Amino acid sequence: MLLHLRKVLSEQELAQARRWLREGPWIDGRSTAGALAVHAKHNWQLKQDSEASRQLQALILQAVERHAEFFAATLPKKIFNPLFNRYGGEANTYGAHVDGAVMHSRSTGQRVRSDVSCTVFLCDPQDYEGGELVIEDTYGSQRVKLPAGDAVIYPGTSVHAVTPVTRGERLASFFWVESMVRSDEQRRLLYDLDRHLSQLRAVAGTQEAVVGLTGTYHNLLRMWADT
Ligand code: NI
Repeated sequence: MLLHLRKVLSEQELAQARRWLREGPWIDGRSTAGALAVHAKHNWQLKQDSEASRQLQALILQAVERHAEFFAATLPKKIFNPLFNRYGGEANTYGAHVDGAVMHSRSTGQRVRSDVSCTVFLCDPQDYEGGELVIEDTYGSQRVKLPAGDAVIYPGTSVHAVTPVTRGERLASFFWVESMVRSDEQRRLLYDLDRHLSQLRAVAGTQEAVVGLTGTYHNLLRMWADT
């Protein structure tokens, strides 16, 4: 499931994030790429054990944890510590690649299965040319370039790329979610059911049928969730 999440970060948080990102330090993105991705990756990455990185990670995690739609769509069990990248100048693109199935952080020892990938856009689309996230989907290629503060989630199984940034700079945060529900198909079904139930509750209140269907949602989640 590919989903656009609106207003994950507030204006104040965006401004703060950009201030910390200006501090850096930035390192060559290839330092964290796997054997295949290393040939495709030409960008900058914020040094993971820096003070700026720690502050930014907390800010992003806090933002996604309060976002109801993020929760409904990903049903998170573990969230990898968010990373930050910058595209522009000579280091401006990331060719087609796949993300590793299990992400491992050397600094924390954290291991997260990459069921869902998430990118949070930190620059406004008009501030740079190119820099589209291209995701290969069963419907064909999806080209994603969102307003600052918005995010996209997509299956960790997808082949994806970032097109060259030919003007300005593209800043983003990216991370992976290990979901309580491993199957993308089951997660999709739960997300749809949850969304339609909220709409139904708004018009039908707490009628018996709504209560019953809410029970069905939880029973499916109970059947499929692994905590
Ligand atoms: Ni990737």
